[in-house]
Amino acid sequence: MSATVDLTSDAIAAVDASGALADVLGLPDQLRDAMWRVESAGLEPRDTPGGLIVAGMGGSAIGGALARGILGDRASRPIVLARWYDLPSWTTPDTTVLCTSYSGNTEETLALYEAAGALGARRIVATIGGKLADAARADGVPVVPLPGGFQPRAAVAYSLVAALEVAGLCGAGERLHAEIDVAAARAERLVAEWGPDGPEDSLAKEIARGLHGTVPQVAGAGLTAPVAYRWKTQINENAKTPCFSHELPELDHNEIEGWEGAPELGRFSAVFLDDSDLHPRSRQLIELTRGLIASQASASYRIETIGDSRAERLISLVLLGDLVSIYLAVLRGVDPTPVTIIEHLKGALAGG
Ligand code: PA5
Repeated sequence: MSATVDLTSDAIAAVDASGALADVLGLPDQLRDAMWRVESAGLEPRDTPGGLIVAGMGGSAIGGALARGILGDRASRPIVLARWYDLPSWTTPDTTVLCTSYSGNTEETLALYEAAGALGARRIVATIGGKLADAARADGVPVVPLPGGFQPRAAVAYSLVAALEVAGLCGAGERLHAEIDVAAARAERLVAEWGPDGPEDSLAKEIARGLHGTVPQVAGAGLTAPVAYRWKTQINENAKTPCFSHELPELDHNEIEGWEGAPELGRFSAVFLDDSDLHPRSRQLIELTRGLIASQASASYRIETIGDSRAERLISLVLLGDLVSIYLAVLRGVDPTPVTIIEHLKGALAGG
């Protein structure tokens, strides 16, 4: 489909058969609902000096990465992600392990749940059900019940808030209810501006048109590093195209050289996710790097977070990336929802 096609509600509905866009537009309410769900789970605060491990994969694990980004240097203990079959060797009974799997049937997460139990760590589960909920019920492990009907990656508000809240309960971070509330209100205004009923030259539609037909490289730093990864994974899964992410300043010690050969391989574009509170040298590097790749990139964007608090700013760019990924899918004429290759792989593993 041409990049000049209108990104109106009707044009999107013609491609987006399962309503992925509606889930993205629902982010503000989902953030509020997520706080209520964690609250209703009645989790007991328990200080675990060994910190927090968020154990999960893909669209369920991203909440842990984003929560860590929001906490930044307000995190008072290590917060790490376990996206494999094993927990870090230093996991002890003094560690909280949040096992997060939307479906409750992801084999890596089930293995991590068992590993955490074997090590005597404090376990908390976030899921809609599946084997993980069954195991938690049998073991008396508390469950944050997630609402059904989403793709795992579309439940990002829930995985993010669950990780933030559990970080607060185990002493790894502050509890940020007020910040999340304000971020939800801000996201509501951005939904109106960037959603399908917003102008055709809105930032989200403009970026989608500019990235269409290219392989985007999304770069973040500090607060925006996990957001860059979220953009990559959303573009991969929703638009079904290659997309890569990296972070500054590290990418300027390797990836930057690769741009030299980019034009002879295909059309590559770059997105730099900026934030007013980044280290001044990172901000300077964004400008320098963008200038250095300008002649090799089909398009490049420098986008700044919007809002005051870290939660507001991070969530603003998560929303933007999610919308861009849906618009890209529509421009390609592909339904954003199905992830048939991921399902196929899970089926192949389950079959032995
Ligand atoms: O986006 C997706 O569908 C995947 O990345 C899943 O989140 C991932 O495969 C893990 O599944 P679940 O979230 O159900 O544990």
